[in-house]
Amino acid sequence: MAAVSVSAPGKVILHGEHSVVYGRRAVALSLDLRTTLTLTPGGARLVLDLPEVDIQQAWPMGEVEALWERLGQPGEACAAPLTEAQVGQVRDFLGLPEDPPGGPRGLALLSFFQLYLAILPRPVPATLRVTSQLPTGAGLGSSAAYAVCLSAALLRLAGRGAAADSTPSTEVSGGLSLQEVSGWAFRSEQIVHGTPSGIDNSICTYGGAVSFKAGCCSPLGAPPLQVLLVNTRVPRSTKALVAAVAARRRRLPEVVEPVLDALDALAERALQTLADLSSADSPQQQDEAYAALHELVDINHALLASLSVSHASLERLVGVAASYGLHAKLTGAGGGGLGVVVLGRDTAPEAVDKCRSELEAQGYQVWQTILGAPGLTFH
Ligand code: PMV
Repeated sequence: MAAVSVSAPGKVILHGEHSVVYGRRAVALSLDLRTTLTLTPGGARLVLDLPEVDIQQAWPMGEVEALWERLGQPGEACAAPLTEAQVGQVRDFLGLPEDPPGGPRGLALLSFFQLYLAILPRPVPATLRVTSQLPTGAGLGSSAAYAVCLSAALLRLAGRGAAADSTPSTEVSGGLSLQEVSGWAFRSEQIVHGTPSGIDNSICTYGGAVSFKAGCCSPLGAPPLQVLLVNTRVPRSTKALVAAVAARRRRLPEVVEPVLDALDALAERALQTLADLSSADSPQQQDEAYAALHELVDINHALLASLSVSHASLERLVGVAASYGLHAKLTGAGGGGLGVVVLGRDTAPEAVDKCRSELEAQGYQVWQTILGAPGLTFH
């Protein structure tokens, strides 16, 4: 097999963060900051080179084969994902602590090994190099994009798909079923996040925009959206924020359930609004659709704040955006991390520039970008 090079985009959740964990609808769009992986088969070792999280490591094949024997893998391509006990053995092999398994570096090693050992019929030597434009731990889907690239490249190494079949569709890329790639990436996300909803691996695989509910993902033909993506630079833990919402829901189910239902209704309405935007054939119709989208963004942020997943840095961001007539919400788990300012067709460029400058002066990192980039791509 020749070397294979794949890339996957990051993601932004437009509606449905947190409520998606409880079976409500979410809408996510891909981001044109990408992770790229090149896999070169051959050599005498298994090499993983991931400079962003300080990994440059090589394992002699004898050691990898001994691990393989200990795990008792069935010797079939794409066997079942590793069990908890097997993941424990891999963690021991890598010398990683149990929980959390050693920060982003440990998680990246663990994700790689569990996919490599489950997807391949036998250990084979290869060199994998990964580079990423996505900051880690900011909620932009860096771990999902990494897992999607790993799953696709390893499936190809296992003899699946075809280099010649390079025309991507909504179901297939490089001859691989996107559903299968996303499924393997989900398993890797379970190691990183505990109980992920599955939205990150879906959007990073399919790209564009996806609607996601109760484990089912539907790619959407949504129009590209102009946004300011704003990094508060405040670190947060998705796992801890998800746990805090779960605790509030246990304490106050009669209060929290209606909020989750309202978030679901917002996401449903957003689907309709994105469809209206795609089919609008006059500037007036587009402006009406953007006005509706902006109203949904405002309400969404307020509902998420009511679940206590906002943060002073996010409230300041929403306030600065509002002072220029713009509409912002937190995106992802909240508690810091990222916010998104959704722009419109007729948003005044001066307002955008001033908002951006003020946010940057206050220490935020700002990207002006368009959401809706292609998903898994073979290069
Ligand atoms: O923190 P992020 O951007 O990875 O987003 C987490 C989104 C949640 O809905 C809070 C959790 C999930 O698994 O969907």
